[in-house]
Amino acid sequence: MQRIIISGNGPLRGEVSVAGAKNAALPIIAAALLTGEPLAISNVPPVRDIDTALQLMQLLGARVAREGTDLTLDCSAIDSVRAPYELVKTMRGSVLMLGPLLARFGEADVSLPGGCAIGTRPVNEHIAGLEAMGADIRIESGYIKAKATRLTGAHFTFDVPSVTATENLVMAAALADGTTVLENCALEPEVVDLALLLQQMGARISGAGTSTIRVEGVEHLSGTAHRVPPDRIETGTFLVAAAATRGDITVRDTNPDFLHHVLGKLEQAGARLQTGPDWIQLDTGGKRCKAVNVTTAPYPAFPTDMQAQFLALNALALGSATVVENIFENRFMHVAELQRMGADIELQGHTAIVQGRERLQGAPVMATDLRASACLIIAALAADGETTIDRVYHLDRGYANIDTKLASLGASIRRES
Ligand code: EPU
Repeated sequence: MQRIIISGNGPLRGEVSVAGAKNAALPIIAAALLTGEPLAISNVPPVRDIDTALQLMQLLGARVAREGTDLTLDCSAIDSVRAPYELVKTMRGSVLMLGPLLARFGEADVSLPGGCAIGTRPVNEHIAGLEAMGADIRIESGYIKAKATRLTGAHFTFDVPSVTATENLVMAAALADGTTVLENCALEPEVVDLALLLQQMGARISGAGTSTIRVEGVEHLSGTAHRVPPDRIETGTFLVAAAATRGDITVRDTNPDFLHHVLGKLEQAGARLQTGPDWIQLDTGGKRCKAVNVTTAPYPAFPTDMQAQFLALNALALGSATVVENIFENRFMHVAELQRMGADIELQGHTAIVQGRERLQGAPVMATDLRASACLIIAALAADGETTIDRVYHLDRGYANIDTKLASLGASIRRES
């Protein structure tokens, strides 16, 4: 198992490029199952969740060619519809294979992902939506066993706006017989990008990015080429790391439009921001940030995937703030680790009350999930002394070469086995 060792050594400065978005790439990879023609995908992030997704695709019979950040998927010879527990449990995004497998092959056998470090994370919305489209679904021995001769268009309203459930149903509806209307859909940019890809493949979709999406099913989808959009959470993570270390950085190959709330909160914290079409510059002027209240909610509000990073920023900021987590019931595991570094945080249900401290102290800490790892890295960069972060495999699930990138911004960071 690997660990990351960081010595807090002052401001992050310089330029960094972000990779393609993991959470956009995962549904794109699943969408390849909808066609027998090749799908060429560029800007695919080199992260472990993508490795897992591709392993799963190969197990289903897909031909996978990957060179750097370019990927070609050929699903002309799929010979299995089973996504096994061993892979699904390590990457919940595997549930995205359910809709496409069922829509194209009339059958899917996908393991239930189970809970994870941030909550129970049910998949009832995915199942209810597919049932509304005529699928016969049973849960047997921990697997979702779904069958449908051909899915039929339906009118379905999500109880909660779920990102992957919206993606699953839009993909399934693309090959269904008739028109599907989905209401209370997730509005995340990753959903919009998936709809764009499906349109390029020949799907008839309107309304992506609004709460009502309409899909007119077609008989056949074609191959195409598509570029994965920039990772808004990786972008936000670097910006917060620079803010917490009183630094000055430019993040390149990104899209400021996806980060409206996060940028607003950084400005409220006292950072100066400038943006261009594909870059964001943050400058703290060497000053300590002010604590900012944060409440997570579905896009376009403040993302749950940036909550842990802002908790670290607030722990080091001037004044006090509350951080409210409204999406996942257990996404505060990083609080106990920050407390080990001297952070003053009180947890009351799904609210964290943070009193900023001038300095935190380095300590041995443990990463509990992907974004919690990022939070500990940020705290460590700004702490006095050395921090050892254990279980960094969580980090490698979603951040591409983060240690090398931070080192290029001046961080003292190394990896050990
Ligand atoms: N929910 C249900 N039933 C369902 C599905 C969701 O009750 O069938 C609830 C969840 O429990 C949660 C809320 O709906 O309270 C929203 O969850 P959502 O389904 O939107 O989450 P997800 O699709 O499983 C994606 C990202 C997550 C990100 C969330 C929220 C991917 C592969 N994952 O998960 O990313 O936190 O949306 O924005 O797109 C991460 O990258 O670290 C990560 C966890």
